Amino acid sequence: MNKKLILVLIILCSACESENDDLKSGQAYNLAVSALSCSSQSEELDYQVYPMTSDGYRIGDVAAFYDSNESNFKIYFIKDIWNDSTNERHPWYVFETDNMYSYTEFGEVLPSSSALCDQDFAVGAGSVIEFQGQYYAFYTGHNPNSGGCSSTEREGILLATSNDPTNGFNKVQNFTTIYVPKGLGFDENDNFRDPFVFEDGGNFHMLVSARKNIDGIWRGVIINYQSSDLMNWNYNGVLYDGGQDNFWMMECPEIFTIGNNYYLIFSDQVGKNLLYRKSTSLNGNWSKPSKESRFAGKGVFAAKSAVDQYGDRYLFGWKNNLTGDSDSGNWKWAGNLITHKIYALPNGDLAATIPHTLKNYLETSNYIIAKDSQWGNVTKTSSTNESYQLISNANFDIANVIYDPINEERFKISATISFNSSNKDFGFMIGACDGYENFYSLRFIPSENKFSFNKERRSNLTPTSMAENDVPIELKPNTNYDIQIVIENSILVVYINDKAAIANRIYKSTNTHWGIYSENSDVKFENIQVTKF
Ligand SMILES: *[C@@H]1O[C@H](CO)[C@@H](O)[C@H](O)[C@H]1NC(C)=O
Ligand SMILES: *[C@@H]1O[C@H](CO)[C@@H](O)[C@H](O)[C@H]1NC(C)=O
Ligand SMILES: *[C@@H]1O[C@H](CO)[C@@H](O)[C@H](O)[C@H]1NC(C)=O
Ligand SMILES: *[C@@H]1O[C@H](CO)[C@@H](O)[C@H](O)[C@H]1NC(C)=O
Ligand SMILES: *[C@@H]1O[C@H](CO)[C@@H](O)[C@H](O)[C@H]1NC(C)=O
Ligand SMILES: *[C@@H]1O[C@H](CO)[C@@H](O)[C@H](O)[C@H]1NC(C)=O
Ligand SMILES: *[C@@H]1O[C@H](CO)[C@@H](O)[C@H](O)[C@H]1NC(C)=O
Ligand SMILES: *[C@@H]1O[C@H](CO)[C@@H](O)[C@H](O)[C@H]1NC(C)=O
Repeated sequence: MNKKLILVLIILCSACESENDDLKSGQAYNLAVSALSCSSQSEELDYQVYPMTSDGYRIGDVAAFYDSNESNFKIYFIKDIWNDSTNERHPWYVFETDNMYSYTEFGEVLPSSSALCDQDFAVGAGSVIEFQGQYYAFYTGHNPNSGGCSSTEREGILLATSNDPTNGFNKVQNFTTIYVPKGLGFDENDNFRDPFVFEDGGNFHMLVSARKNIDGIWRGVIINYQSSDLMNWNYNGVLYDGGQDNFWMMECPEIFTIGNNYYLIFSDQVGKNLLYRKSTSLNGNWSKPSKESRFAGKGVFAAKSAVDQYGDRYLFGWKNNLTGDSDSGNWKWAGNLITHKIYALPNGDLAATIPHTLKNYLETSNYIIAKDSQWGNVTKTSSTNESYQLISNANFDIANVIYDPINEERFKISATISFNSSNKDFGFMIGACDGYENFYSLRFIPSENKFSFNKERRSNLTPTSMAENDVPIELKPNTNYDIQIVIENSILVVYINDKAAIANRIYKSTNTHWGIYSENSDVKFENIQVTKF
């Protein structure tokens, strides 16, 4: 070894020592015995259960249709291309699936127009409905050049039809483009999009997202049109204006019924969460959920649902990309397709769970996990499976068990978790550079009845820290919480107790040290298992 290298090593070592001065000697021990792997993985495009397009493009806003003839779902989506070599802007493509873990991809079904002044110079979100053997695709035509065009507005609603829903739609030239109503207080320059067409009480209805000045205040609103033939539509007023909340824009609305309830779901363009309201009639009143305000975190944006022949309803949406394919990147429109099964609880609220077909598929092959280390008051509570009790009695005194990296692209971590007491949080460590400070936290936070994903270092975590992503869930002591964490490349989806779901983008998800932790809490993690697929 040459002298320069030795000198460099000494400088490096004194640097790490000084950084560790304020740590307890026991905690520094982990660091000394093993260097943990916590680097982000390079993004890969070989997604299967959370697909992108096979040529590596991201999935945008979805329209879902259950084809009862073929017993499968058609999932239309905006392909995230904008004026690439094909000179297209957000055309529609379609996937087909009957199991929510493998998807058949077809070609383009609805192209944008290359004529600068055509209303659908760019194509936006919409919906598909079948009527008398014909498929009707109502879609947004978006034209950024509209200012220089005589007969085009920024956004309008168009129609295309088809006899074969995976083989392309023909634009209906004589359909009267629906433009924002004039003189009624709407934003007449923009923000009129995302038609959703459904049948109710012998009539067709079309929801459209818009913005309107109501009593001097601009609000995002969902408006309603009616038709008896899908060709001629009449404006029928504002269906929902947000009530006590004022949304900039409630995007991609959908209405469906379960039992006696109508559910109105929409995506909050600013907050990025999917929200819903319920009512016993289409005319309202639309009320907030009785308990948890939502069943998902940021990660099923612009989602639409469809129900299969067994009565199971699936919600299809997208998890955003981050710029630079980096954990420090910014939110980027479009990403991977995420699917949850949704259902109504006894109180009428909606809940999300893993599609049962996907769950079975994920459990085909066990992966043997290897423990790296543990720290703090940790008791192994089973001799036959990975079960531990972790007790921490103070903030920043983190008890943990750390596992070796899982060098797989697709796997599932599951466990059953219960706590006696919790004054801070507990959960899973992902991308652990150490066991006490520098890891991403998948957190149960009983004091806030919340499950969250936080990226900040543990010492920066305060009660006012803004989570990267979160979902409300009631957390009670001495109660079992079943947790499933499904990982495919940089997508990490967590299901809690078959009630709540959050889909995350984490480039450190695979091939890094991970584990369980408890901070100022007394927690049991039982039967920690990994399966791969
Ligand atoms: C879009 O692509 C076409 C064809 O490549 C090109 O002629 C046009 O200038 C491009 N427009 C913009 C706004 O980049
Ligand atoms: C289902 O198949 C029947 C008989 O071939 C046909 O008439 C009908 O249009 C089909 N429906 C859909 C939704 O494709
Ligand atoms: C629209 O065009 C179609 C196909 O050319 C035609 O069958 C239909 O009658 C037309 N509808 C109206 C309202 O003109
Ligand atoms: C909706 O709520 C308002 C205010 O609470 C009430 O006056 C109205 O009767 C309700 N409408 C329906 C259809 O329940
Ligand atoms: C995600 O977005 C970034 C920034 O635009 C882009 O470089 C990257 O290719 C995207 N990733 C994927 C997988 O599309
Ligand atoms: C672990 O915590 C329990 C409960 O507070 C306590 O009884 C036990 O002594 C602790 N064990 C160690 C090794 O600190
Ligand atoms: C794990 O071990 C505990 C204690 O031995 C036992 O009660 C539990 O049933 C085991 N769980 C599974 C799934 O084997
Ligand atoms: C809670 O406390 C009881 C009594 O000390 C103990 O038997 C049980 O294992 C504890 N459970 C958890 C989850 O800590």
